[in-house]
Amino acid sequence: MDELKRAHQNEMIIISVKDNRAQEEIKRNLENEGFTKIEVYEDVLQMNNVEFNREFCADFHIEKMDDYFERAEEADWLGVFWREDSVFYKMFQQLDLANVVELACGRGRHVQKYLDQAGHVTLVDILEKNIEYCRERFQGDSRIDYYKNNGYDLEKIKSESCTALFTYDAMVHFESMDIYQYLQETFRILCPGGKALFHHSNNHSDYKASCRNAPPHGRAFMSKDLFAHYCYKAGLTVLE
Ligand SMILES: C[S@@+](CC[C@H](N)C(=O)[O-])C[C@H]1O[C@@H](n2cnc3c(N)ncnc32)[C@H](O)[C@@H]1O
Repeated sequence: MDELKRAHQNEMIIISVKDNRAQEEIKRNLENEGFTKIEVYEDVLQMNNVEFNREFCADFHIEKMDDYFERAEEADWLGVFWREDSVFYKMFQQLDLANVVELACGRGRHVQKYLDQAGHVTLVDILEKNIEYCRERFQGDSRIDYYKNNGYDLEKIKSESCTALFTYDAMVHFESMDIYQYLQETFRILCPGGKALFHHSNNHSDYKASCRNAPPHGRAFMSKDLFAHYCYKAGLTVLE
């Protein structure tokens, strides 16, 4: 217990055990051991793993990702996507940016890299906090629309209205079921000839892997083949 306590002293402990009495007992024991940030999540019991992991992933980005968002703005991390010899950059060049959607935009670090070539941009994220950050960051730019979505669909975007969609550094954490829904939505919103670019996980070592339990980078369960299969089922053709 001492080791556990030392390792997790500053972290919130969430208890989601179905048996109420067991919940209380575990909570009491942890309190006796000096843990202070303990929450019992009744709601968790009503959720399946897809919803739970989706919410975990979103919440994690509120509290625990400030360091990431700051570091990610620096040239070397941006370079992964925007250096001319980057595989992402080469693929991005194939997108028609007349009406582009950036899914899971975070705090908008990529926007500055493509905005000047874009006609219209829709920034989508599950977190109001990140959408607000972007609104502030790009205030007054009439080329940009903002959309806080529910984490699995794009219902506010009209069918066949977009020329491109892309997402970086985010879908790697998404639940595969949500990815399938996003692929269906991508098919729906792209106009004929439209293209999408997805940065996804290729972690298929454990079918239970999720943003929540796959250290060190929270790569959720997904493979190249499963992703291609989902694309195919959703009506999309894999180009590369
Ligand atoms: C690691 S950040 C990356 C942000 C941005 N794409 C970048 O490269 O800087 C992941 C982003 O995904 C968002 N996110 C998490 N789950 C999501 C979901 N199911 N649907 C949409 N956005 C989600 C988070 O709020 C966060 O902004």
